[in-house]
Amino acid sequence: MNVDLAVIGLGYVGLPLAHAAVHEGMNVLGFDVDEAVVRDLNAGRSPVDDLSDADIRRMRDAGFLATTSESDLDGSDVVAVCVPTPLTEDAGPDLGAVREAMTTVARCLRTGMLVVLESTTYPGTTDEVIRPLLEQTGLVAGRDFNLAFSPERIDPGNEVFGLRNTPKVVGGHTAACTDRAAAFYGRFVDTVVRARGTREAETAKLLENTYRHVNIALVNEMARFCHELDIDLWDVIRCAATKPFGFEPFYPGPGVGGHCIPIDPHYLSHKVRAKLGYPFRFVELAQEINATMPDYVARRAQNLLNDHDRAIKSATVLLLGVTYKPDVADQRESPAVAVARRLRALGATVLYHDPHVQTWGLGGDSVSRVDDLDTALQTADLTVVLQGHSDYDGETIAAKASQVLDTRGITPRSPTVEHI
Ligand SMILES: NC(=O)c1ccc[n+]([C@@H]2O[C@H](COP(=O)([O-])OP(=O)(O)OC[C@H]3O[C@@H](n4cnc5c(N)ncnc54)[C@H](O)[C@@H]3O)[C@@H](O)[C@H]2O)c1
Repeated sequence: MNVDLAVIGLGYVGLPLAHAAVHEGMNVLGFDVDEAVVRDLNAGRSPVDDLSDADIRRMRDAGFLATTSESDLDGSDVVAVCVPTPLTEDAGPDLGAVREAMTTVARCLRTGMLVVLESTTYPGTTDEVIRPLLEQTGLVAGRDFNLAFSPERIDPGNEVFGLRNTPKVVGGHTAACTDRAAAFYGRFVDTVVRARGTREAETAKLLENTYRHVNIALVNEMARFCHELDIDLWDVIRCAATKPFGFEPFYPGPGVGGHCIPIDPHYLSHKVRAKLGYPFRFVELAQEINATMPDYVARRAQNLLNDHDRAIKSATVLLLGVTYKPDVADQRESPAVAVARRLRALGATVLYHDPHVQTWGLGGDSVSRVDDLDTALQTADLTVVLQGHSDYDGETIAAKASQVLDTRGITPRSPTVEHI
């Protein structure tokens, strides 16, 4: 079969890419090592929030096939690798899945192929890790095949910006590699931005996420002293955000979650430290501040109960929203886990409510789910808003709950509501 695009890694990044290419009329194959993912996809079930089962069935009807069989990749014109890039136990980059996926690609590499890495990674990965691995075949990047890095900017749950209308950065190993990758993505992305090379494209992605990480840390640090000084930080941000230039609002919260913000800046700081021997101080400070937020939220909960003559030991605390961002089911790296652990360690009985999460545990230790939100709001000693899902009505929460600690600013301030 002639395959226009083979996508390796069929998750939050790989599937929307496959979907866009199928929509463009391309012949698309999906390869994943997880048999359950492949089985689900071929049965028309979506494993990600952004695509429905109906989307997957339409892709399948248009010829999309998921496979675990490496030999199916033979004859692919373009291969895009979208596998996870997590951290090792000592918080360094774990390129295990990328190496494994690229070893698979090497076995089917042929003259004229375009290979693109989309996984977020540290600068130099494409040139120093991927290229040598692929060139072991005897084929040379830029001469026999094209090699590029193009960072994924997918924002799960974002209904305004998707793959088509989010500019796509591409950086090739050579100018011709960039041209080839730009022409490929230009078929289904409105704007393609050419980076000078693979390193610039890799670093651009890390700059984007580090920028968020640092600015979230800035407001998280401000949240502490604004509380002490009796300044409403949410109002401060609302006012500052009216400046039509030079300011972008960021909001405090219970910590950072997801697969990007808590992880990607480590890739950059690790590279700076390993290669140059000195720290990337902004990143390290932001990590330190953001990592302390769950503990800060638990202490604020304890103080709030104390202010109302209630000891946290034996109090019932209801957590609202345990995913890492609003309106999705994705719980990866969600700070809600650390908040719940801390509250439990302080002796509280912890319950949760989340319209997107049916069961929730703290590493094997399950937390009771509340179905009847109204009753739970009335009976809990304290309600902590951890995620601002659009299903949550701040007015109702403030009216019904006996005490509220709101880490997302969705409730109106009142004598029974405190914002972090
Ligand atoms: N999720 C996002 O919103 C997002 C946004 C931008 C960038 N990224 C980056 O994109 C990359 C992929 O993230 P994701 O969220 O799609 O991950 P994911 O966990 O949703 O999906 C990754 C898929 O890759 C598969 N896989 C793992 N090793 C494999 C291998 N050797 N061969 C084939 N398949 C393999 C897994 O089984 C899984 O199905 C990461 O580097 C991430 O940082 C993610």
